[in-house]
Amino acid sequence: MKLNFDALNNLSSEHGDSFYLLYSDRFAKNYDDFLEEFQCIYSKTTIGYSYKTNYTPKLCKIIDDKGGYAEVVSDMEYSLAINIGVSPNNIIVNGPYKPKKALMRFLLNGSIVNLDSYKEVALLTEIANQYPDKKMLIGLRCNFDINNDSVSRFGLDVEDDKFFKEFYKLKELSNVKIMGIHCHFPDRNIESYAYRADKILALADKLFELPPSYIDIGGGYFGKMDDSLKKQFKSVHEYSDYAQAIATRFNDFYSGFDEKLKPTLILEPGSALVADTMEFVAKVIDIKNIRGSNIAMTTGSKFNLGLLSSSVNMPLMVFSGAAERTAYETVDISGYTCIESDFLYKNYIGYLNEDDYLVFSNIGSYSVVFKPPFILPNVPILEYDNITKRYDIIKRQETVDDIFQTFHI
Ligand SMILES: Cc1ncc(COP(=O)(O)O)c(C=O)c1O
Repeated sequence: MKLNFDALNNLSSEHGDSFYLLYSDRFAKNYDDFLEEFQCIYSKTTIGYSYKTNYTPKLCKIIDDKGGYAEVVSDMEYSLAINIGVSPNNIIVNGPYKPKKALMRFLLNGSIVNLDSYKEVALLTEIANQYPDKKMLIGLRCNFDINNDSVSRFGLDVEDDKFFKEFYKLKELSNVKIMGIHCHFPDRNIESYAYRADKILALADKLFELPPSYIDIGGGYFGKMDDSLKKQFKSVHEYSDYAQAIATRFNDFYSGFDEKLKPTLILEPGSALVADTMEFVAKVIDIKNIRGSNIAMTTGSKFNLGLLSSSVNMPLMVFSGAAERTAYETVDISGYTCIESDFLYKNYIGYLNEDDYLVFSNIGSYSVVFKPPFILPNVPILEYDNITKRYDIIKRQETVDDIFQTFHI
């Protein structure tokens, strides 16, 4: 359905001054495109979708229907995966905080748990001794230098001898199977992926006599984006660039191996699949001038747009019903919260009027899941259904009761 002022105005009168629009077909296509780039170089590639990036159940279900894994980092996300019918065997559990009760749940259910610390190694050992007849599947989150400026705080330092000592101790546990190794770093540049692939492949070779069941390279890839967003980054990479950097290395490294012995390459994209599958719609309430600065107040907040919007301007389209348009050389488009730095877009140049609708795109990652209930509850998520020709409510508008029901009043 093509957006225009009247369509947005109709939606607004039914669903409120701001709302999200979801495009789940785009999400399904992103999954297929991303996987295909890797599989045509290294066929044993699987995606574990990062739930935390956007855990809208409809999206998580698409991943499961396509045979992808759920990558979760909490008992909350784990429960969602189970509730929507994901088999425990298709859930990878990551994250630095796994309380014993939750860890026990993951392990006894047969999910793969990537241990993040020696504290978790000790907890696993306790649980394994407590349930000697239960087979437990684990991996290790590995931390190594990837030639960047920062030291990641996650996982186990593989440059320390302790790592190897603990690895061999874990191998002694008869009911624990070390299925693979995992890494994730926040850098999105291609060089760092080439570097981490080389390092983790060498590590796998050192640790395992035969290749492990999986090697998990984590997430952090750029998604599809339009030129206005692209030019705000130093460099941007396509899915195929990541596949060239990672899958080619896996293919070369295991070229002499029988297909059955090759490890599964697991990728954990979040943003790369979901960022361009949502838009956020807000309305201009007022445009004022303070000592020469034009400021447009809106019904949205930067918290609706996600983490990235604090450092770049997300792509923006303006839909107006005004008979006479006002042109601005520059306007800062602000949010409704009382935070001074709450701007959705800085230095907007163009036409802008009261009651215009603003449609921000590429805002699917770390937005819906990140919006605090600060000042206002969150807005609904809507998706156009091509068959019924109507918008479905994917997530209803949050209410005042939703926010205050956990307080004792
Ligand atoms: C372990 C792990 N996997 C996957 C992701 C997904 O990252 P992105 O949404 O940048 O692809 C993250 C994000 O922090 C992560 O920590």
